[in-house]
Amino acid sequence: MRNTTIALPFVLILLLASGDLLAFDPANGRQLLQQNCFECHGTELYTRAERRVTSRPGLTRQVQRCELALGLKWFDDEVEDVAGYLNQEYYKFGN
Ligand code: HEC
Repeated sequence: MRNTTIALPFVLILLLASGDLLAFDPANGRQLLQQNCFECHGTELYTRAERRVTSRPGLTRQVQRCELALGLKWFDDEVEDVAGYLNQEYYKFGN
């Protein structure tokens, strides 16, 4: 009991700190993906065995390719939000 009481504030501080360190906004990435990215393919592409993307930088490049093919003209941070979200949910390259 005493241990958890002492540990809790530290855990909260750690959670807040790691939130600040996130370079992308996964909620925004998810929303952008849902609004724009289901025309040609769904999420099954991201988890298939022979998927094309094999690295975290490659993921950013592929998101950019698809986004440009759509003519969306996203800002870099929007590309990062989506790539970060895809990595977190599907690719799991661990940045
Ligand atoms: C105009 C059609 C089209 C749209 C819309 C589209 N994509 Fe794609 N996407 C493709 C094609 C084609 C591939 C390659 C499929 C293959 O190699 O079999 C692909 C592949 C991908 C891959 C790589 C999958 C893998 O194998 O690892 C990612 C990631 C991706 N798209 C993300 C996105 C995102 C994010 C969006 C929304 C901005 C999007 N796509 C919208 C056509 C599209």
